[in-house]
Amino acid sequence: MKLQKKIVVVTGGGNGMGRELVLALLSKGASVAAVDINAAALQETVELAGMNRANLATYTVNITDRALVDALPEQVISRFGAVDGIINNAGIIQPFVRLKDLDYAAIDRVMNVNLFGTLYMTKAFLPHLLARPEAHITNISSMGGFLPVPGQTIYGAAKAAVKLLTEGLNSELLGTNVRVTVVFPGAIGTNIAGNSGVVIDNQQEKLREGPIKVLAPGKAAQIIIEGIEQNRYRVLVGSDATLMDAVYRLNPQRAARFIYNQMSSLLPK
Ligand SMILES: NC(=O)c1ccc[n+]([C@@H]2O[C@H](COP(=O)([O-])OP(=O)(O)OC[C@H]3O[C@@H](n4cnc5c(N)ncnc54)[C@H](O)[C@@H]3O)[C@@H](O)[C@H]2O)c1
Repeated sequence: MKLQKKIVVVTGGGNGMGRELVLALLSKGASVAAVDINAAALQETVELAGMNRANLATYTVNITDRALVDALPEQVISRFGAVDGIINNAGIIQPFVRLKDLDYAAIDRVMNVNLFGTLYMTKAFLPHLLARPEAHITNISSMGGFLPVPGQTIYGAAKAAVKLLTEGLNSELLGTNVRVTVVFPGAIGTNIAGNSGVVIDNQQEKLREGPIKVLAPGKAAQIIIEGIEQNRYRVLVGSDATLMDAVYRLNPQRAARFIYNQMSSLLPK
């Protein structure tokens, strides 16, 4: 779906890739409804939008609150007149610990934001999208949604669920006006750990600065937007995601072992 003059909702628009998506969409001539749990972060995005802020509305909403999410479409439609697209980008990681050491509070939080938040947004906006001449749904999964990352097992399970949710939706919406894209970013240079309340120790920080090549969030946003404009079925973001996708298809166990060797030092002894 071409994005110029379209009205697009972006969750997680206060930071990282979501913010870059908001700014890039505005530059393309789209109107944007940015949703985030963090009001101060949304305000920073507004300031960064400069002159384009006239086409930007912000909504401080926790996407795990189904009643608040259900109320969003009417608010966005009363501001902009319609909705043509949603980008379900808001997400959090889990603490880098083995499943046996992850408590249910953390498990619920990660599943609620990454899976149920995406689901609530999709269900709330879908009837409105189906009423448009053309429309688009983009869900941000992760390289960790097809490849196991030790210490991120529940995050990976949530993102794998987002993958299948999105692919299932794609099939169900064939023959309608709504196209659907699933996105698998590799390592992107954002503060997702800090924003998720996950403490990164010195060794983990070193690894982040080490061999893993991190892509700038602005570049990631550009790749995602190209994917939406081309109605791509799936979008891999970064050379790491592209490479691991190929390795995983050839030999899933070998791909898992490779990532284990790269990442296992992040786990507590
Ligand atoms: N950074 C990476 O390396 C990476 C890799 C693969 C996938 N991803 C995925 O990309 C997406 C964006 O990640 P990012 O790195 O830009 O993260 P980020 O932390 O920079 O931005 C995420 C935003 O989502 C918001 N958010 C979190 N919980 C929310 C909630 N309950 N309701 C509303 N907003 C909420 C946060 O406040 C934040 O502004 C996430 O879904 C993430 O899982 C990130």
